[in-house]
Amino acid sequence: MNEKIKVMIDEETIKKRLEEIATQINREFAGQEIVLACVLKGSVFITCELAKLITVPVKMDFVTLSSYGSGTISSGVVRMVKDFDEDIKDKNIIVIEDIVDSGRTLSYLFNHIKKSNPRSLKLFALLDKPERRVVNVNIDYIGFSIPDKFVVGYGLDYDQKYRNLSYIGVIETDQ
Ligand code: IMP
Ligand code: MG
Repeated sequence: MNEKIKVMIDEETIKKRLEEIATQINREFAGQEIVLACVLKGSVFITCELAKLITVPVKMDFVTLSSYGSGTISSGVVRMVKDFDEDIKDKNIIVIEDIVDSGRTLSYLFNHIKKSNPRSLKLFALLDKPERRVVNVNIDYIGFSIPDKFVVGYGLDYDQKYRNLSYIGVIETDQ
């Protein structure tokens, strides 16, 4: 079985969109400090790219959650593997997520973060698959809304592969 990747969103388009969103964040948080809360591993590229475009004081923290068993099949159960390192009380938190699919991961994480009383809590998602939503989540900054296709690249994986692609693509298999 051969896997070929078809480009859905190219690098230049992603870069431009990240610049637009960074400009919005810089304006909204002028004079304040923010924490980019990266959901590992899928959001690591986006978090780094976005952080470089942020001009207000910024910190980065990392959380690991697991929701997907293997391949494209979701287990539906979210589990915390690694919590944030820093105390998030009274901080301006922007959660950085690669993609919102069913919404289960984000709703679990938001409930967890709210218990620590952050000053503000926003959500950035590079991709949104609205058709797949099971749990309602409010996304403050959306990169792109996409149809119900399994995508890889720019941090997103298929069985841990393809995270390093510089674009968002769809796997096409010819067997
Ligand atoms: P949710 O809890 O169903 O919203 O799932 C969110 C997580 O599932 C994301 O953070 C991704 O890690 C993974 N995921 C969902 N859709 C895709 C996809 O199309 N490609 C790769 N990973 C995906
Ligand atoms: Mg993820």
